[in-house]
Amino acid sequence: MSFRSVFIALVLSFGMILAGLLINGRRPAVETIQPNASFVRATGKCASCHTRTQHSIVHEFELSEHAKKGVTCLDCHQTAEGQTKEAHHGFEISKTVTSANCRSCHETQYQQFLRSRHAAPSWAAVYGEKGLTADQVAFSEKFHPGACKRAANALVSLEGQSAVTVGCVKCHSVGRPNPDGTIGSCTACHTRHTSSVEIARLPTTCGQCHMGPDHSQLEIYNESKHGVMFAAQKSQLKLDAPAKSLTTQDMFVPTCTTCHMSGLNGLKSTHDTSERLSYWLADEISKKRPNAEQAQVAMKEVCNQCHTQRLIDQIYEDASKVVESTNEKVKATSDIMTALRKEGVLGPKRFETPIDFMYFDLWHYYGRTTKHGAFMGGQDFAQWHGAYPMLKHSVEIKAQAEELRRAHGNATAK
Ligand code: HEC
Ligand code: HEC
Ligand code: HEC
Ligand code: HEC
Ligand code: HEC
Ligand code: HEC
Ligand code: HEC
Ligand code: HEC
Repeated sequence: MSFRSVFIALVLSFGMILAGLLINGRRPAVETIQPNASFVRATGKCASCHTRTQHSIVHEFELSEHAKKGVTCLDCHQTAEGQTKEAHHGFEISKTVTSANCRSCHETQYQQFLRSRHAAPSWAAVYGEKGLTADQVAFSEKFHPGACKRAANALVSLEGQSAVTVGCVKCHSVGRPNPDGTIGSCTACHTRHTSSVEIARLPTTCGQCHMGPDHSQLEIYNESKHGVMFAAQKSQLKLDAPAKSLTTQDMFVPTCTTCHMSGLNGLKSTHDTSERLSYWLADEISKKRPNAEQAQVAMKEVCNQCHTQRLIDQIYEDASKVVESTNEKVKATSDIMTALRKEGVLGPKRFETPIDFMYFDLWHYYGRTTKHGAFMGGQDFAQWHGAYPMLKHSVEIKAQAEELRRAHGNATAK
């Protein structure tokens, strides 16, 4: 065979491949991704069957923006990279639907989410590094030093797996590692079939997890002027307004998401709920975050869409003082606990003596509540569920420490 004929054959075959690609590229995406015509009509087929057995799921989908924009059942339920295929009544669907499926159309939101503490750090708060890949840990450490490189939480082994499965994991799985290599669950806030911004904007949606004595954000919000106004004027708000063009005409009363996520009046919206926070308020001793200054500017800019500067600066000034004084109170009691351990009055392990629980409650319940209440307008929480029980516990811990020392002295003297 001559060089010339090989050359012509090559040119012809490249030409044919190119033509094929060009023609294929002009077909609608639903046709090219899916192998045959019945797949194109997937929603009709899936729905007609499933509406008989799970009417509410199909109905929720029908209410969604997805249904209006022609996103089909199969668009979400087909396999994404790393997922296993399963034959299903003439279709091939994925066994699981995770953020891997959502990211195929919403990569921006996925990337923002991935940087947040809702991603890997949430999981690591319970199980430590276990279950996360080295890459996932390294990525997260860039944004939240120490949040993933840690051991499993002590309560996991003390309370046992069955309690952890129905408790800790249900909330912290917002950042679970998925078998397909992605992180997290988008449906914790959006639900599986409505995928709605309206539901995500409701305080009760965040309150699924952000409630209770250790993070009473929902209760604090409900007590705040914002929460009261929301309850009174909810029906006048446009909770379903598109995220890209959200204004104070739509949301003139803020919910959790207005302050922590939304792009109000053209501000930058974000799925990184850490972006506008300047302190690590959940910590035993709260320090400023590395990006504290930018974070405060970003949050204050949100307040500024509805308030004047004086009110905003006053809230931040008062709350910053509360952070300092809470730190001092926690530190004073923490010093007592450290001394007891040094003197051998307490063993090295935590959660073995009642005084350990008193100290844990002091910072984990009351310290946090004081700080959160101060920033988010929860006066009763800052005071009667915060500063006051902190004072009470610190007095009780001092008294118990003396008693324990006496008992320990007696025991060692014997
Ligand atoms: C002919 C009826 C029929 C059709 C068509 C159908 N399904 Fe199903 N589907 C079922 C039944 C019955 C089940 C219960 C479990 C099973 O038999 O697989 C089910 C279960 C499921 C489950 C739950 C699987 C699990 O293990 O939890 C999902 C998700 C699902 N279907 C999605 C779809 C999607 C998406 C389509 C369209 C691409 C579809 N189905 C088409 C009948 C159908
Ligand atoms: C926006 C993406 C999306 C769309 C569109 C979608 N689903 Fe789902 N669906 C999910 C997710 C996420 C789950 C939870 C899967 C999991 O747990 O792994 C799910 C679960 C299900 C289940 C199991 C539900 C249960 O509670 O047991 C069924 C059945 C199902 N979908 C059917 C459908 C049908 C039928 C349609 C179209 C009418 C549809 N889905 C459209 C995302 C979607
Ligand atoms: C096949 C592509 C596709 C997939 C897969 C997909 N979406 Fe969407 N999504 C869209 C389109 C298109 C819109 C409408 C966008 C617009 O109008 O700007 C949309 C809109 C949304 C909205 C805004 C809805 C509103 O009320 O304004 C949310 C929230 C959303 N998707 C979440 C999800 C989640 C969560 C998943 C995974 C469970 C997912 N999407 C999977 C294409 C997709
Ligand atoms: C009701 C939902 C819920 C349950 C149940 C829950 N958590 Fe959390 N957890 C949260 C929320 C929300 C935060 C964020 C608090 C904040 O920033 O104010 C949090 C914060 C934390 C933190 C501090 C943040 C960090 O990364 O260091 C740790 C540690 C933690 N949780 C561990 C656990 C463990 C262990 C369990 C079970 C014994 C558990 N949580 C049960 C919702 C929950
Ligand atoms: C912590 C709750 C929460 C989680 C988790 C979450 N979202 Fe959202 N999402 C929201 C809220 C709230 C909005 C509306 C923001 C606003 O007020 O403008 C939103 C808006 C959206 C929109 C519409 C954006 C636009 O510009 O039109 C899309 C798309 C979306 N989310 C996708 C996702 C995907 C994909 C994931 C998972 C990687 C995810 N979300 C996880 C709360 C969440
Ligand atoms: C499924 C449970 C869950 C839901 C729903 C949820 N969160 Fe969270 N959130 C968590 C957990 C767990 C953490 C703690 C992560 C950590 O620090 O380890 C957290 C942390 C946060 C933080 C602190 C981040 C940081 O950097 O310290 C903010 C702010 C936050 N969430 C806001 C929201 C808002 C706003 C919503 C509603 C739109 C919401 N969350 C919905 C579980 C949830
Ligand atoms: C009016 C605005 C506003 C509203 C509404 C609001 N927050 Fe906040 N939130 C803040 C501010 C300000 C801070 C402290 C910021 C800082 O550290 O600089 C904060 C702190 C937090 C933290 C503490 C994170 C940490 O460091 O431990 C969480 C979690 C949180 N908010 C969740 C919520 C939830 C959930 C809701 C609704 C139930 C909500 N917020 C409502 C403004 C708001
Ligand atoms: C979307 C609009 C909106 C945003 C954003 C917002 N607020 Fe408000 N806020 C209101 C409304 C409305 C009221 C009630 C106003 C009135 O009584 O005139 C209010 C009331 C308050 C009050 C009570 C004032 C009083 O004495 O009655 C404080 C304090 C406050 N906001 C602080 C903040 C801070 C701090 C931020 C940002 C972290 C913030 N707000 C963000 C709308 C908003």
